[in-house]
Amino acid sequence: MTDKELMLQAAEARKHAYAPYSGFCVGAALLGKSGKIYLGCNVENAAYTPTNCAERTAIFKAVSEGERNFTAIAIIGGKENDLSPCAPCGVCRQVLAEFCDGDLRILMGTPNAIQTSTLAELFPHSFGKHNLNE
Ligand code: THU
Repeated sequence: MTDKELMLQAAEARKHAYAPYSGFCVGAALLGKSGKIYLGCNVENAAYTPTNCAERTAIFKAVSEGERNFTAIAIIGGKENDLSPCAPCGVCRQVLAEFCDGDLRILMGTPNAIQTSTLAELFPHSFGKHNLNE
């Protein structure tokens, strides 16, 4: 699985985005250590707050199917064909940090122009289970 292939999967997931309010369509492809890929898109809601981001859709699918270890997530988002690198929001970073180490690779951009960061770079000094002494 190359980074480009994972980003192409994210682009496929983006086709299912339900974003009638923002028009900002996002797709995510999360690669499990098992080799399985979990796809997600954003799902908006008329009450706005219940909206779920693409990344959380993907990770909740994965965890609910029994996978808790991940190596990379590709994210692609934007309005229509205006695709600039889409970084995960703060809530999604917190959710990723629950299951992923700092070395999780986060791929942003488009299949032909991928920017790579790690979760540690995007989410330093995070609150986590260590704060709860667990
Ligand atoms: N969104 C995501 O799905 N992922 C991100 O990383 C950023 C934002 C969604 C939420 C909302 O449906 C729309 O993009 C605009 O914020």
